Amino acid sequence: MILSNRTIILGITGSIAAYKAAELASHLVQLGANVNIIMTESAEHFISPLTLRSLTGRPVATGMFELNSEFVIEHISLAEAADIVVIAPATANIIAKLAAGLADDILSSTVLATRSPIIIAPAMNVNMYENQITQSNLSKLVSLGFILVGPVKGRLASGEMGLGRFASIGDITGAICRRLGENGDLARRHLVITAGGTQEPIDPVRYISNRSSGKMGYALAEAARDRGARVTLIAAPSALIEPYGVELCNVNTAMEMYSVVNDIAPRSDALIMAAAVADYRPANAVQAKIKKADTPLTLDLVNNPDILDNVKGNFVRVGFAAESEHLAENARAKLQRKNLDLIVANDITIAGSGFGAENNEVVLIRRGGTERKLPLLSKREVADKILDEVASLLR
Ligand code: CTP
Repeated sequence: MILSNRTIILGITGSIAAYKAAELASHLVQLGANVNIIMTESAEHFISPLTLRSLTGRPVATGMFELNSEFVIEHISLAEAADIVVIAPATANIIAKLAAGLADDILSSTVLATRSPIIIAPAMNVNMYENQITQSNLSKLVSLGFILVGPVKGRLASGEMGLGRFASIGDITGAICRRLGENGDLARRHLVITAGGTQEPIDPVRYISNRSSGKMGYALAEAARDRGARVTLIAAPSALIEPYGVELCNVNTAMEMYSVVNDIAPRSDALIMAAAVADYRPANAVQAKIKKADTPLTLDLVNNPDILDNVKGNFVRVGFAAESEHLAENARAKLQRKNLDLIVANDITIAGSGFGAENNEVVLIRRGGTERKLPLLSKREVADKILDEVASLLR
């Protein structure tokens, strides 16, 4: 979507993490980008240009003065064609060169010649990273508008633990998408999105929950980020990885979600309640583990507040309706009852759609009655269709 047909320069420098650039390149190609690789001489000691050429299907630039190059003046042509430049991994050496404005190889020359945004993902030994020279070079680059992703803490090639590990492929991709989508149709909008199934404690080891995986809400959060929105994701527990560039608030119960939504949504532009909020909670969550007994156990449940119904404020309201029968009818009733602008009606009986699945088949129903039935799509595609409606409601 956001990356399709975009031209990305992926600059690879001589860090042990260079092998991970192959996975990054492949991932970007799968997302539809044209990936032009530029490698420094040291990077070639860690990974072969042939690997990268095979993954991207494009020539890999390795030197300034190659007679076989398809470009007239290669670094200038590459620099001009790029929508974004990503240096991943970036060594202390390339960071120092860029901070000094040096242009003594094809990568530094291309960076100096480009007007595109530049992302750097450092990867190096902790002492090299924490060295004041590297730190001041990085501060200079950030103050000049370079976007820094990572490094993160963890085990380094030297065996030490520390700051210096290459950021995840997901975070680097997230940073690229966010930067390229910065001026999208949700720019300067603040969206609050809820995700996942709340957990209502019975005792310290048990809870009541549901089958929601959180995938739909997380897909919405990433899609909104890639259209320029500021996103607050209020998430019940899930196995999903924290999305890059999104403000994540973790909650467990419906009551916690209610309190956070109440704090944040009234100052936002839109609330999208993709979470599967438990309608009931155990009346008394006991402090000690309930012991097994020979008699049946009865749990008393009390009602949770309906978040969508109760949160006050002037923002676009989007709800989901998870239904196993009378889909449109039940969804329309919820839209009315909860005073929504849009409801996403979800038939949970369709195989391969809804709870836990990668795909979703939904009907979008606007206040006033317009209905859009969508085919089975990936959750990311569904997210973008929902956001098309939100963007139009916000206009
Ligand atoms: N919702 C909410 N607070 C609740 C329960 C649900 O804000 N306590 C929101 C959900 O996030 C969803 C919408 O209301 O956007 C509809 O949720 P759903 O579970 O489909 O319906 P309910 O209103 O709970 O009604 P029912 O369970 O009877 O279908």
